Amino acid sequence: MNYLAPSILAADFAQLGSEIRAVEEAGADWLHLDVMDGVFVPNISFGIPVIQSVRKTSRLFFDVHLMITDPIRYVEAFKKAGADGLTVHFEACPDTAAALKEIRAAGMKPAIAINPDTPVEKIRDLLPLADMVLVMSVFPGFGGQSFIPETLPRVRQLKAMLSESGLHPDIEVDGGIGTGNLQDVLDAGVNAVVAGSAVFKGDKTANVKAFRGILDKTI
Ligand code: DX5
Ligand code: ZN
Repeated sequence: MNYLAPSILAADFAQLGSEIRAVEEAGADWLHLDVMDGVFVPNISFGIPVIQSVRKTSRLFFDVHLMITDPIRYVEAFKKAGADGLTVHFEACPDTAAALKEIRAAGMKPAIAINPDTPVEKIRDLLPLADMVLVMSVFPGFGGQSFIPETLPRVRQLKAMLSESGLHPDIEVDGGIGTGNLQDVLDAGVNAVVAGSAVFKGDKTANVKAFRGILDKTI
C-alpha cells in the first residue's frame, strides 16, 4: 500500500478545516503536519494547539513531522494533541534512540528523518527502532522547494540496508514531490509520499486523484 500524506503547510490556514476535508474526501491517507521551531530550521510554522484543533475535524492518520531541537521534550504533548505518528530528525536529537523509544512507549508510530546531507549509513543502528524512515528530498524549513535528485540513490541505499537487516519500515519522502517525479520515488522504494504545494495549490480534489492514480497502480 502506498500512502499519500498532504502537508498542510501549503494549505490556506484561514480555511484549514475545509482544506483538510477536501483532501480527506478526495482520498488522502494521512495528514502531514510540519512543526518548525525557528531553531532547528530557519522558519516557524505551527504547533500543538493547531494540531489539537484540526484533530477534531479529521479521522486521517496524523503524520507529525517535528523540525524542532531535542523533540523528546514534547512527545507526550503531541500524543495528547492527537498525533498518530511522530517523526524526529536524527540531526535534532541528542539521543535519537531514546526519542524513538519514548514515541513508541507513548503509543505512537516512531519515525526517523534525515536531511539531504546526512549519510544514510549514520542511522543504520537506529533502524530497528523506527516504523518509518523519512528521507528528506529538500532541506527542511520551507514548502515549494525543488526535489533534490540525489534523494533517489539515497532511498535505494536505505532500501538495501533494510533488506540486509530484514527490516520493513515505511519509507517516506518529503519535499518537491509532484505527479511528474512520483513514479521515480516509488521505483526507488518509497511507499509514503508527502506533498504540500502539489496537493493544495489549485484543484485539491483533482490533485489528490492524480496522485492516487499513480500510487494505486504501483503496489
Ligand atoms: C519542508 C516540509 C514539507 C513541505 C513540503 O520542510 O517538511 O513537508 O511542506 O512541501 P512541498 O511539497 O511544497 O515541497
Ligand atoms: Zn514535512
